Amino acid sequence: MSSYTQESAVTVLGLGPMGRALAGTLLDAGVRTTVWNRTPGRDRDLVERGAAGAGSVVEAVAASGLVVVCVVNYDAADAVLRREEVTAALKGRTVVNLTADTPDRARDTAAWAAEHGIGYLDGAIMTPAASIGTPGAVFLYSGPEEVYRRHKPVLGTWGGTHTHLGEEVGRAAAYDIALLDIFWTAMAGYAHALAVAQAEGISPRELAPFAKGIGAILPPIFEEGAEDMAAGTFSGEGNPITSAVSSMAHIVHTSERHGIDAGVMRAAEGLARRVVGLGHGADGFLRVADVLGRQARVGGTRE
Ligand SMILES: NC(=O)c1ccc[n+]([C@@H]2O[C@H](COP(=O)([O-])OP(=O)(O)OC[C@H]3O[C@@H](n4cnc5c(N)ncnc54)[C@H](OP(=O)(O)O)[C@@H]3O)[C@@H](O)[C@H]2O)c1
Repeated sequence: MSSYTQESAVTVLGLGPMGRALAGTLLDAGVRTTVWNRTPGRDRDLVERGAAGAGSVVEAVAASGLVVVCVVNYDAADAVLRREEVTAALKGRTVVNLTADTPDRARDTAAWAAEHGIGYLDGAIMTPAASIGTPGAVFLYSGPEEVYRRHKPVLGTWGGTHTHLGEEVGRAAAYDIALLDIFWTAMAGYAHALAVAQAEGISPRELAPFAKGIGAILPPIFEEGAEDMAAGTFSGEGNPITSAVSSMAHIVHTSERHGIDAGVMRAAEGLARRVVGLGHGADGFLRVADVLGRQARVGGTRE
């Protein structure tokens, strides 16, 4: 069974799909685990598997040196943590907050923790609940290196890869935002593509193998794009942004001919047209990132 000491005892606050997966994997690893959830009863199967079900947040916090928080957002995390009696109970313990939210909220929570003598590590989980305990799980952390190192063995029971991104506590949330930016815009594109394809008589099953092929084009683009950005070249050789504008216009027209809202593609096409209008038509599509960044630096006004 356990190779963990009492100090490795972990409390999990929040038993949504992710909190349950985290707590279940800790139990599988033999870690002494205490669980709490706002709505009672969600701990039943975990308790049957050996978890201690706490009747209150204070009781849950008192049971372990390490308190993992995994609720819907930081408003919910604040509602759980930032009550006088809970804050007092957390003093001298460590909170690992795996709740997703913005970098600013992470920094604000870290400041609150520091003010109250609470160790604090912010984290982001980049893979679904089903990945927890498997080699596919991906965890990102930021905050004090020493805190990360101290708790790494027990965090490691969740399987997969664990990366400490640095002491600046907003970094894990910043990576989360950037990576989910890719994910949700891709998902919006996929959902829109399914609607347009179906309107053209193509079933999702028929499209799937080719959709996978399009997805496979992206990973090398991420690496080449990073080099391009670093070098400031934005090479459009073989695929200038003028050609991308034309391709996107075909999607908008086909979509709208079927009465399907093309808002997502219109937004992308608008960005590309703006870049062409600034004289970068021969560059590649990632010149968009450069222009967006430059416009933000001059206060959001358009060049
Ligand atoms: N599920 C995934 O695959 C996945 C993947 C990566 C990251 N994440 C992140 O992990 C976090 C948890 O996600 P989840 O999937 O487990 O479920 P979720 O639906 O995002 O959150 C549900 C949990 O939040 C609690 N909650 C909501 N409002 C609350 C409040 N005001 N006070 C106290 N607790 C509150 C719920 O308690 P009740 O049961 O009482 O409602 C429940 O425990 C989120 O930040 C999510 O973005 C999830």
